[in-house]
Amino acid sequence: MNLLARPFDPTHDAALVTGAGNGIGRAIAQALVGEGVKTVFADVREDWVAAAVRASPCPELAIPWVGDLASLESCNALLAHANGVLGRVTHFVHSASPGRKEVDHALAVSRETWQQMHAVNIDAGFHLARELARLLIDARVPGSFLMVTSLHAGTPRNLPHYSTAKAALSMLVMELAKTLGRFGIRVNALAPGAIAEGGFVADPALARHIPLGRLGRAEDLAPMALAVLSNRVSAYVTGTTIVVDGGLSLTNWFDPPSLDDL
Ligand SMILES: NC(=O)c1ccc[n+]([C@@H]2O[C@H](COP(=O)([O-])OP(=O)(O)OC[C@H]3O[C@@H](n4cnc5c(N)ncnc54)[C@H](O)[C@@H]3O)[C@@H](O)[C@H]2O)c1
Repeated sequence: MNLLARPFDPTHDAALVTGAGNGIGRAIAQALVGEGVKTVFADVREDWVAAAVRASPCPELAIPWVGDLASLESCNALLAHANGVLGRVTHFVHSASPGRKEVDHALAVSRETWQQMHAVNIDAGFHLARELARLLIDARVPGSFLMVTSLHAGTPRNLPHYSTAKAALSMLVMELAKTLGRFGIRVNALAPGAIAEGGFVADPALARHIPLGRLGRAEDLAPMALAVLSNRVSAYVTGTTIVVDGGLSLTNWFDPPSLDDL
């Protein structure tokens, strides 16, 4: 048997991806559609969602939804829309996150920016995951959820609203995985490194700290996201964080050995 040939079952699997208008979320949503999985592309930016859907490998399988996930009403509207068009969401990816600005350090960030970051990442992530899980449990159908966190769930970023939201999301993955595993619902996190597109304006000099020698691209994340989401490939993987960072997180106060004499 060829183990990796058909990671999804398009006759049964259906996906919802938040933050599908840009960057990593877009790459994952488009990759799911490329595997034949009908997918709702959810984002606050109408123009970005429309472009992401148009540029998908099979646009007829990509369903746009536009709304602000900082609001509970919008989250409920998204759930109603996704369940209506898909019948059942078996695969959920939460990649939506407000833009991060370097000026928003601990002494500057406003209460509104703080709340928005937490509302979209953790409040929406929890609400959507829990409501989707309830439906899967009722129907006795397995599922697979993936939260896009960050290396900054575990190390400061000078953006306290962002790092604390990602740290909370990281713990939510473990809480949900522990509770939902008995129902066949797997919950994992994907922690990207420095991905030079989407909401991160990367300094090319950063590549010097990355063992694999380059900044990341959204397309570096999509294959791993699909592997973790797939119940065929990752049936026994839950509650874990998959780091896709080219080795960036190996950086510390020691430089790598010089190896000049080799
Ligand atoms: N780019 C990186 O280097 C990097 C590194 C680590 C983690 N991440 C995470 O990856 C995810 C994707 O980030 P990215 O940098 O690829 O692109 P991005 O930051 O542009 O993507 C976030 C998407 O979320 C949408 N969004 C923002 N607020 C929203 C709201 N209120 N309701 C609905 N949608 C909303 C945006 O419109 C955007 O399309 C984010 O969760 C980010 O924190 C990115």
